[in-house]
Amino acid sequence: MAGPLIAPSILSADFARLADEVAAVHGADWLHVDVMDNHFVPNLTLGQPVVEALLKVTDIPMDCHLMIENPERWAPPYAEAGAYNVTFHAEATDNPVSVARDIRAAGARAGLSVKPGTPIDPYLEILKEFDTLLVMSVEPGFGGQKFIPEVLSKVETVRRLVDSGELTILVEIDGGINADTIEQAAVAGVDCFVAGSAVYNAEDPAAAVAALRKRAAAASKHLQA
Ligand code: DX5
Ligand code: ZN
Repeated sequence: MAGPLIAPSILSADFARLADEVAAVHGADWLHVDVMDNHFVPNLTLGQPVVEALLKVTDIPMDCHLMIENPERWAPPYAEAGAYNVTFHAEATDNPVSVARDIRAAGARAGLSVKPGTPIDPYLEILKEFDTLLVMSVEPGFGGQKFIPEVLSKVETVRRLVDSGELTILVEIDGGINADTIEQAAVAGVDCFVAGSAVYNAEDPAAAVAALRKRAAAASKHLQA
């Protein structure tokens, strides 16, 4: 058992002051960086040059969430650059296992993400190739959306496999996580909680991270360190 991991998403940060915004979440467990290509999702954010620049200004392990087409081609370079975890979307490739192997070979942990409408059952067999499962609790593309509680059944399915020892994987959730929603996600079995607007719209982002961690830890036995 381990305590909850909190991963602030810099999507809700001020992009003109990114280094300061990363420093503002000191104490965070992972730094969640949303890479969008304007094809897989209808939004464009940042890519490898910005990730490389951010890696130079922080020691917080970087969690790259690639909302992009063709992860076969574009995901491994994020691992080579020094990201800690590189997650791509199940919906974006026919070869998730080979992408995961390439990411791991390049030195990072590999993550698989599923959109709210994507079932998890077809992927259960291949999860052993991954270190992280990122369950989207909003449609990917934008911060500040409302949490979709129905996705928690996917979290529960994978939590059961982890608790019974059939699978070793970290369960991460992304979208609409705040003080009101984090507890139900923790109870369902999430290990790592992404929070964008709930952290960066707060007066004190580092205090918001600590408060979210405390709420999650209190909500579920599997998170009591
Ligand atoms: C959305 C991104 C999220 C986003 C979450 O596609 O993957 O990481 O930043 O933002 P909030 O926490 O505001 O829902
Ligand atoms: Zn994300």
